Amino acid sequence: MIKQASKFIPSITDNTEKLLEVKELKTYFFPSKDKEVKAVDNISFSINKGETVALVGESGSGKSVTSLSIMQLIPTPPGKILSGSIKLDGRELLSLSNKEMNKVRGKDIGMIFQEPTTSLDPVFTIGSQITESIRKHKKVSKKEAYENGVQLLKMVGFARAEEIMKEYPHQLSGGMRQRVMIAIAMSCEPKLLIADEPTTALDVTIQAQILDLLQEMKEHFNSSILLITHDMGVVAEVANRVLVMYGGQIVEEATVQEVFENPKHPYTVGLLNSIPDLDEDVERLEAIPGSVTPADQFPKGCRFASRCKFAMDICRQKTPELRQIKENHQARCFLHEGA
Ligand SMILES: Nc1ncnc2c1ncn2[C@@H]1O[C@H](COP(=O)(O)OP(=O)(O)OP(=O)(O)O)[C@@H](O)[C@H]1O
Ligand code: SF4
Ligand SMILES: [Mg+2]
Repeated sequence: MIKQASKFIPSITDNTEKLLEVKELKTYFFPSKDKEVKAVDNISFSINKGETVALVGESGSGKSVTSLSIMQLIPTPPGKILSGSIKLDGRELLSLSNKEMNKVRGKDIGMIFQEPTTSLDPVFTIGSQITESIRKHKKVSKKEAYENGVQLLKMVGFARAEEIMKEYPHQLSGGMRQRVMIAIAMSCEPKLLIADEPTTALDVTIQAQILDLLQEMKEHFNSSILLITHDMGVVAEVANRVLVMYGGQIVEEATVQEVFENPKHPYTVGLLNSIPDLDEDVERLEAIPGSVTPADQFPKGCRFASRCKFAMDICRQKTPELRQIKENHQARCFLHEGA
């Protein structure tokens, strides 16, 4: 992946109509009586229509729990959405019944996961899985669903789409399976596509193709994307705006250009410094020392303090708020209080 956002910086979309609005969302896990895992701890963000927002952060920072909360796929128990609001096109998702939410999943919100083998059923052909998905949400005949499926497979780059319809997932490569998943996710023209590490399991050359494909599909169907990744190179390629998550909180939010040119939070700077540089042999220039504090053991004050080279006394005593630094840029760090 590339070192900085030099190749393609999509501008912040002019259309600022909000599609998704998440407010003060708290999703905790209670794996045992005396354990409370603050996986997502009071996060707020929105995604505009037509926008690609990247959610970045290291393993365990709460990215997947955020997306599963939006889809209401949190295993309950041990997990629970404790409070907050999730609105899609102004409609509160948290007050929908299971049946209503089932309609939203797949129809209004499509989802792609890291490992397509776990999402595709090995015992059914690609054709039966894609037509089933189409018929779940659209009132069409089997023949129409089949034709629609072939057309979608062609859109995601399969020249011999009719043959792919007859094949089973194991007959396809990882990249091909991910294309099929994208076709299925887009089959009902969702308003929002959530892609959770969609390229992590793939070879680097295939990764770029899949990212291009996501962009094409987004434009064709006029969807918005929430792209979850730990790879800042991927962010530079496709995102308009970036949310940086650490310890279940958003620690920085800005346009992609701002994040790359003017990062404010020491954690974001660390993430940017750990992008592998293709021109050098060094894999990681300056990885962030230490590891993410487990979500049931957050210390008082700033959750990043134990790893931050700028940590001050106040950082260990008080919790920094997410503050506006300038238009389209917020950070949660005492270094930028009053900035
Ligand atoms: N079913 C669960 N039971 C208990 N804790 C959980 C459960 N699922 C997630 N967690 C905890 O919630 C926190 C956030 O996890 P999450 O899966 O959202 O991380 P992530 O940012 O997606 O990481 P990765 O990059 O590894 O996918 C972690 O501390 C994790 O251990
Ligand atoms: S608040 Fe303090 S410890 Fe936290 S990131 Fe900023 S400087 Fe570092
Ligand atoms: Mg995850």
